[in-house]
Amino acid sequence: MGNILIITGGSKGIGNAIATKYSNEGYIVYSLSRTVINQEHLHEISIDLSDIENATLSFEKLIHQLKKKSIQSITLIHNAGRLGQISNLENIPPKDIHTSILVNTTIPLAFSSIFIKELSSVNCKKQIITISSGAAQKAYNGWSVYCSSKAAVDMMTATIAQEQEQFNNPVLAFGIRPGVVDTNMQSQIRKTNISDFKNVQRFIDLKNNQELYTPDFVAERIFDLDTNNKLKNGVTLDLRDL
Ligand SMILES: NC(=O)c1ccc[n+]([C@@H]2O[C@H](COP(=O)([O-])OP(=O)(O)OC[C@H]3O[C@@H](n4cnc5c(N)ncnc54)[C@H](OP(=O)(O)O)[C@@H]3O)[C@@H](O)[C@H]2O)c1
Repeated sequence: MGNILIITGGSKGIGNAIATKYSNEGYIVYSLSRTVINQEHLHEISIDLSDIENATLSFEKLIHQLKKKSIQSITLIHNAGRLGQISNLENIPPKDIHTSILVNTTIPLAFSSIFIKELSSVNCKKQIITISSGAAQKAYNGWSVYCSSKAAVDMMTATIAQEQEQFNNPVLAFGIRPGVVDTNMQSQIRKTNISDFKNVQRFIDLKNNQELYTPDFVAERIFDLDTNNKLKNGVTLDLRDL
């Protein structure tokens, strides 16, 4: 069956650019998002990642189908993400906190768990790439939940790499911080009131000065790093440092 990519959030932004790049390079790509946009080059599966039970059932079903085929390599990219409400923590409702943690953190952990377990007997190149953020390392007022959710997945990447070291055919785990990228997420940031996000002008200036990366640029960089074995197992790299 060849090289397989499963990506969450392949419907928009960075995820859509990555899905398209890998598909153009001959990968069979499965995209898991709420929106189905009927792109011929993708196998789109409509999933709400904040519905943990249905999301994990769908993911398990997909992995079961794929493991029956002859696989050369299989890559899972955790890309779907949400900022949630931007404001000081005391203003964020528990339900919004819960949804962000589900989509940004719980689903990457749960899908990684299923991926590792179900493919343990499959002998091929297996890897998990998690799209992190500079916010995993730098605190921003108004982003407490987002920063926390991204810091957690960096630790997931490091831990999976350590746990898998003992196996002959390990799952490799990598993280990538893509920089500031021109997507809906950035539009949401720029629309935030300064009273909720005191750094808003910095992000407006980045856009006005055309300093945002395009999703296509990020996808090209990730494909190059991945397929030329430039990623480091257990490490989350920032594209701006390379
Ligand atoms: N843009 C940046 O500057 C930037 C910087 C650092 C890190 N990142 C990270 O990069 C990743 C992609 O962000 P982006 O900027 O491309 O954002 P985006 O344009 O807002 O796209 C988000 C993607 O996540 C999916 N998604 C969100 N909630 C979902 C849910 N409940 N169920 C299923 N899919 C869901 C969306 O699909 P549907 O709406 O179709 O469900 C969409 O495909 C995120 O992890 C983000 O944290 C972005």
